[in-house]
Amino acid sequence: MTAINRRNFLRLSGAGLAASVVAACGAATTGLSTPGSATGAQGISAGAVAAATPRPTLTGAAFSPDVEIGLTAAPDSVNVFSGQATKIWKLSGDLIQGDPTVLQPLTDTYLGPILRLNKGQRVRINFTNQLPQESIIHWHGLHVPTEMDGHPRHVITNGESYTYEFEVLNRAGTYWYHPHPHGRTGPQVYAGMAGFLLVSDDEERALGLPDGEYDIPLVIQDRTFNSSNQLVYGGNGMMDQMTGFLGNQIFVNGQPNFNLSVSTRAYRLRLLNGSNSRIYKLAWDDGTPLTVIGNDGGLLEAPVEYPYITMGPGERVELWVDFSDRPVGSRLVMQNWYVASSQGMMGGGGMMGRGNGASSAQGGAFPIFTVSVDKQVNEPSTLPSRLSTIERIPEDEAVTTRRVNLRMQPPGGWTLNGRTFEMTGVASDERVRLGTTEIWEFVNGGGIMGGMMTLPHPMHMHGEQFQVLDRSVNSSGRRAWEAVKDGYVDGGWKDTVLVMPGERVRVLRRFADFTGLFLYHCHNLEHEDMGMMRNFEIIV
Ligand code: C2O
Ligand code: CU
Ligand code: CU
Repeated sequence: MTAINRRNFLRLSGAGLAASVVAACGAATTGLSTPGSATGAQGISAGAVAAATPRPTLTGAAFSPDVEIGLTAAPDSVNVFSGQATKIWKLSGDLIQGDPTVLQPLTDTYLGPILRLNKGQRVRINFTNQLPQESIIHWHGLHVPTEMDGHPRHVITNGESYTYEFEVLNRAGTYWYHPHPHGRTGPQVYAGMAGFLLVSDDEERALGLPDGEYDIPLVIQDRTFNSSNQLVYGGNGMMDQMTGFLGNQIFVNGQPNFNLSVSTRAYRLRLLNGSNSRIYKLAWDDGTPLTVIGNDGGLLEAPVEYPYITMGPGERVELWVDFSDRPVGSRLVMQNWYVASSQGMMGGGGMMGRGNGASSAQGGAFPIFTVSVDKQVNEPSTLPSRLSTIERIPEDEAVTTRRVNLRMQPPGGWTLNGRTFEMTGVASDERVRLGTTEIWEFVNGGGIMGGMMTLPHPMHMHGEQFQVLDRSVNSSGRRAWEAVKDGYVDGGWKDTVLVMPGERVRVLRRFADFTGLFLYHCHNLEHEDMGMMRNFEIIV
């Protein structure tokens, strides 16, 4: 109902009328429920926690935005290679009102603009769809009301608009946005639709981390192009659906053979695995350890050194890198070392790409990007030994443990507890009480065909960030797990965790502020599109 009301928002225009439509939606939202939601709620120890009330959300006239942005999805083209331009689907932004620094348009790439927001800011984003199919945009990692979350039930078609209004509740961090229409997220992201959403706050600013041109977001993606420079998607049919799409060439910030030209000083590099399904195990080619300062939900408590980092699709890792001791003219390569386990079915093989040696199979050693030290400067900076304070959620605050089995189930394919996505469907064991804390346990155990049909699944939850409690692995998964486990950046706050074959990951999460439907799903976009996604509902 609300989807229809919110459609055509811009067309209705006449702010008064539109505002009242939205206000009505806001009111309706609070009591959102699906049939049967009043009953059930299995697995919740009733009475353990006092009833919580939802956070009041202002919309329409009551919502006075600090910043207002227009975001339009439309077919476009870009020169990725010399010769023929590449057809893409691009998200472009325009500033309607507020501080112009919130919107950083990117030209010469398929990527959407970088949105730079501040904690506490009230943001209105008018999304307009000029694509020949349905779409809706999701703010990955942001804690927003269900109506503002880009749920697939809110898709809009060509010519329609959807208005998002939310306050930025998240702490400083590297978030991102991308489409979320059911069954079409993979191809739409692949066609170009994704962008960074960077949040800053006072705590972060006080640290004096490298900023401006020394704070660099880097999105890593794999793509396959044909000889006319056009994107190729889904050429492997069933195989792509089972494993996920794997491109044969690596792109960083939309460019092949990406080179980062740096000065002899410290940088903050914000890495995002924006690939549909490729997993990376990243390390500097000269063996320099990686200094990690943040992940999905912002800064860690303190910097941590890693020999390599493991990143599943959707995950972010922030690095602090000091190039001040490196001679001008030197180079450093960020290398991929991930080798898919033999347990990942259909692995191996794969032809070489036209570019840097990524393969159409998961895994392989190839360069991701090069850093060239080009300019001598004398700007010493020290990395603070303490970055933030992270309150550990006490394990005993959890009122229940909810287990999610990740498995292949014929004839459909990948499932969560044997189920696939239903647009507004919620099972009784998918209802969570507002104001409670739970342990969610993701178990990648194989399913009916045993280890044969086991692949890694990057599990993502919408809404609030969670904390990783622990991981364990069964004997059949151990070897592949050993090769990636030292690269898991599990400290701090997370919204996506890689769950390897045979692995069990337990996360702790609070469910506060907003009621309604939210998604949890595999962020391998082909798995997600196949239905490896479910709603959970937060109820009062
Ligand atoms: Cu990044 Cu539900 O997605
Ligand atoms: Cu998300
Ligand atoms: Cu998956």
